[in-house]
Amino acid sequence: MKKVKCFSDVHYSIGKIDKKLYSSFTEHLGRSIYTGIYEPGHPDADEDGYRKDVMELVQELDVPVIRYPGGNFVSCYDWHDGIGPKEDRPRRMEYAWSSIETNEFGIDEFCRWAKKVGVEPMIAVNLGTGSIKDAGDLVEYCNHPGGTYWSDLRIKNGSPEPYNIKYWCLGNEMEGSWQAGHLSAEDYTKKALEAAKIMRWVDPSIKLVACGSSYEMLPTYLEWDRTMLTELYDHVDYLSTHNYTMNSGQGTTDFLASYKQLDNHIKNSASVIEYVKAKNHFTKDMKICLDEWNVWNFQDIVLDSLDDLQGLNTFVMTSADKWEVAPPILQEKYSLLDAVVVGGLGITLLNNVDVVEIACLAQLINVIAPITTVKDGGIFKQAIYHPFHMLSKYGHGTTMKASVDAPLYQSAYGELPIVEPAVVYDEESGEVRIFALNCDQAEGVEFTMELQGYGKKKIKKHLVLAGDDYEVINTLENPDQVEMRACEIQDEDSLSVVLPKMSWNVIILG
Ligand code: AHR
Repeated sequence: MKKVKCFSDVHYSIGKIDKKLYSSFTEHLGRSIYTGIYEPGHPDADEDGYRKDVMELVQELDVPVIRYPGGNFVSCYDWHDGIGPKEDRPRRMEYAWSSIETNEFGIDEFCRWAKKVGVEPMIAVNLGTGSIKDAGDLVEYCNHPGGTYWSDLRIKNGSPEPYNIKYWCLGNEMEGSWQAGHLSAEDYTKKALEAAKIMRWVDPSIKLVACGSSYEMLPTYLEWDRTMLTELYDHVDYLSTHNYTMNSGQGTTDFLASYKQLDNHIKNSASVIEYVKAKNHFTKDMKICLDEWNVWNFQDIVLDSLDDLQGLNTFVMTSADKWEVAPPILQEKYSLLDAVVVGGLGITLLNNVDVVEIACLAQLINVIAPITTVKDGGIFKQAIYHPFHMLSKYGHGTTMKASVDAPLYQSAYGELPIVEPAVVYDEESGEVRIFALNCDQAEGVEFTMELQGYGKKKIKKHLVLAGDDYEVINTLENPDQVEMRACEIQDEDSLSVVLPKMSWNVIILG
C-alpha cells in the first residue's frame, strides 16, 4: 500500500476561514425558485408558499449567504416586475433561459424567505439591460428606512423594516457574449463605476462585488480584470469570478485533479488583484468572491466543451421546450464521482482562504444543485450535498499550511501528489480537521498525520465518501446511495488511517 505523510505545524497558517466560504446561489432558472423554494399548494408549503422541506435542508447545510436573482437571468430582469400585488405582476419572456417568468416571486419574497431560513441575501443588480438608476432604486427599496418613494413602496408592500442588504453584485458575467447587454471591459468599467456611485449614495455601508472574468478560453480573460480594476479598485470591495468543472472528455484522472484547476484559477484572479494594487499604489487589500463554483456536466445543454462558450449567444437545452414556466432544466444528476470532485474543490477553497472570502456553490435547489425537489412531491439530497455539508459543518477556524510527502502522478495540471489535503484548526474546540482527497484509482493509501505543536491528539472520527460504483446517484426512491460513511478507527493514537481509493475524507482529531 502506498504511504503518504501530511505535515502541519500550529505556527504556520494560511488564514482564517470566513463562514461566507460556504455560501450558495439561487437564480430564477428552471425549478430553482418555482417548485423549489416556492410552491404554494404543496403539502409542505407554509403560509407564504415556501416549502418547509427545502428550508430544513438549507438550514442543515448552514449556508450563510445566498446570491439572488442571477446569474444570466439578472441581465434581462426588471426588479420592478416582482413587487406589489401578485395579480398585477407581468408575465414575461425570460431571455436568458428561454422561459416564461411569472414574477410571482420577487425581491420581497426572497428577502422574507431568507429571513425565515436565517441566511443573508446577496443581491445582483442588472448591469446588462438595466440602468444604473434602477440599481440605485433597488438599494433604496431594500435598505432605506422610509420616507422616500421606493422605501415607502417597500413598506406598503408589507415590509416595514428595511432589509439592510450588505452584499451587492455589480452585474453578472458581463464578459460573456451570452449575457444580455454584454459589455466590453471598458464599457462595463464605466457603467459599474457609475452604478457603484449611485448605490453608495443611497447606502454608503454596502459592500460591492465587481464582475471579473471567469472563462479562461475567452480572449479577454484576466485582461478584463486588469482594465476594470485599474479604475474600480478603490470603489469596490470584492472581485467576482466563476469556475465550473466539467467531467466530459477529460477522463477520471484529470477530473479528480480538477481541484488544481480551481486552485490555478483562483491564483490567476488573485495575481491580477496584486498586479493592479502594486502598479497603481493602492493600499487596501481586495478579496475574491467566487460567487459561482461547482461541477457542472452540461447534461442537458448542447455544448461539447466549455470552449464552445466563445461567441455563444443562447443556450440550447434538450430537457424542455422554449417558453415554459419553471421548466425542468439544468437538473444535473450528480454521481459519487462528482461528489468526490466537489469535495476536492472544497479543499482548494480552504487552501485559498487568504484570497477567497466568499464562495457560492452554484446553485442550491434543483438547478446544478445539492437539493432536488419533486413538484407536488418529495425531496432528496444529491450526492454533492454530502461533501458540501461536511465542509460547512467542519471547515471552521483557520486553514493551516500543510505539505505532503506522497507519490506523484501525471495530470493535465502537471505532476501532483496522490493525496491533496486541507488542514483546519478549530481553535475553539481544539480539534484539527483534515480534509483529504485520495486520487489513487487503484488502491487505498496509508495516510499519516505528522502534527507539530497542536498538543496530544487522537483520531475521533474518520468519515469517507467512496464506493464500488462511481456512477451511482441518489434518487427519490434510493436517496442514500451516496452518503458519508464512518470508518472504524483501528488505532486512535497512531494518527494513521487508510484513505480508500478515489475517496474524499474528513478526519477529526481532538
Ligand atoms: O449557474 C448557471 C449559470 O452559469 C449562471 O446563470 C451564469 O452566471 C453562469 O454562466
